[in-house]
Amino acid sequence: MASKVLFLLLVLAICSTFVFCNAGGSKKKSHYKHKGGWGHGHGHGPRGHDSYEPEYDGGLKNDFYRKSCPRAEEIVQTVTSRHVTSNPNLPAKLIRVLFHDCFVRGCDASVLLNSTGNSTSEKDANTNRNLEGFNVIDDIKSEIEKECKGIVSCADILTLATRDAVSLQYGRPLWKVPTGRRDGTISIASEASANIPSGASNFTVLVNNFASKNLTVRDLVALSGAHTIGVGHCNFVSRRLFNFTGRGDQDPSLNPKYADFLRTQCRDPADRTTTVEMDPGSSLSFDNHYFKILKEHKGLFVSDAALLTDDKAREFALQLLNPKMFFDEFAKSMEKMGAIGVLTGSQGQIRNKCSLVN
Ligand code: HEM
Repeated sequence: MASKVLFLLLVLAICSTFVFCNAGGSKKKSHYKHKGGWGHGHGHGPRGHDSYEPEYDGGLKNDFYRKSCPRAEEIVQTVTSRHVTSNPNLPAKLIRVLFHDCFVRGCDASVLLNSTGNSTSEKDANTNRNLEGFNVIDDIKSEIEKECKGIVSCADILTLATRDAVSLQYGRPLWKVPTGRRDGTISIASEASANIPSGASNFTVLVNNFASKNLTVRDLVALSGAHTIGVGHCNFVSRRLFNFTGRGDQDPSLNPKYADFLRTQCRDPADRTTTVEMDPGSSLSFDNHYFKILKEHKGLFVSDAALLTDDKAREFALQLLNPKMFFDEFAKSMEKMGAIGVLTGSQGQIRNKCSLVN
C-alpha cells in the first residue's frame, strides 16, 4: 500500500512538471486541432505550424470555440477557400486588412467598422483607401451566425480567414491562430493615419513603429515578406521614379533597370488607379521570393528598400532567402502580430455584424 502511495506521489510530481499531464490543456502546450477541410498538403513546401511554440498569445487559446461553436474554424476555411478560388488576389487583400487592423487599437476588427454620422472610421482613412476584402469577412460572419449566433468575433474571423487564404496554395495552415479575440467598439480614422507606416518611411520610422507594437526588427523584416503577394498603386512609387529629391531624378537605391521597367507601367506620377506587382512575376504566390527581389534592389517602396539600410535587418533579410527559415519566421511573426492588443474575456463585444457596433 505504502509503495502504491509513493508511486502515486511520484506520478503527481512528474505531472506537475510536464504540461502534457494537464488534461485541461495548458496554454503552453495546447495542441492546435484544425477541423477545417485541409488536406494533407503536397509533401513539399513549408512545414506545418507545430514546429515552434507561440512566443506571446495575449491570453488567446487554441480552438477557443471548440465547445461554443465547433464548426467555426471549418466554416471560415470553407468560405475563405471558395472566395480565394474565384479571386486569387484575396490573400493579399486580407493580410493587408489584418495588418492595418492589428496596428490600430490591436487586432479588434476596428478596421471593419463603418463610419457613422458623427465619426469617420479607420476604414475611411486615407491610408486605408485601397483596402479590400471586407465583403468576404461579412460573408463568413453571416454563415457562422446562422450556426452560432453571437459567439464568434469578427476579429477572430479576420485573423483565421487571412491565415486560411494565404495558406490555401499549400493545402495546410502556415501558422497557428489561437482564438478568443473580442471586437472593439471604437474606430477613428486619424488613429489609422497615426499608426500605419507609409511606404515612404525610412528604417528608423519603421523600427520605432513596430517597436510601439512590441515587434522587433526581425518581425519587421519577416512581415515585410508579405509584400511577396499583391500590388502597389503607381502614385506610391512615382516619387522614386520621377522626382526623388525634387530635381527630376530617381531613387538611387532602386535598381535602374527595374526603374526603367516601372516607368513603362507607371507613366503618370499622379496615377492612383494603375497597379504594379510588388513581387514581379510571382505576386500571386506566397513564398520568399520577395527577399530575392529585395536583394536585387527591386523592392517597390522606400520602406522595402529601407530594410537593406540597416546591417542587422539586411543580414536577416538575406537569411530569409532560405525558404524554411522564411516560413518559420513569418509564422512566428504573424502569430505575434495577431496577438497585438487583443481584447479578451469580457472586454469589447461580439459584434452581430462586422461593420457595425452592436
Ligand atoms: C513595414 C511596413 C509596411 C509598409 C510601409 C507597407 C506599405 C505598403 C504600401 C504603400 C502598399 C501599397 C498600397 C496600395 O498601393 O494601395 C502595401 C501593400 C501591401 N502590404 Fe504593406 N506595408 C508594410 C507592412 C506590411 C505588412 C506587415 C503586411 C502583412 C503582414 C503587408 C501586406 C501588404 C500586402 C499584401 C499588400 C498588397 C495589397 C494588395 O494587393 O491590395 N504590408 N503595403
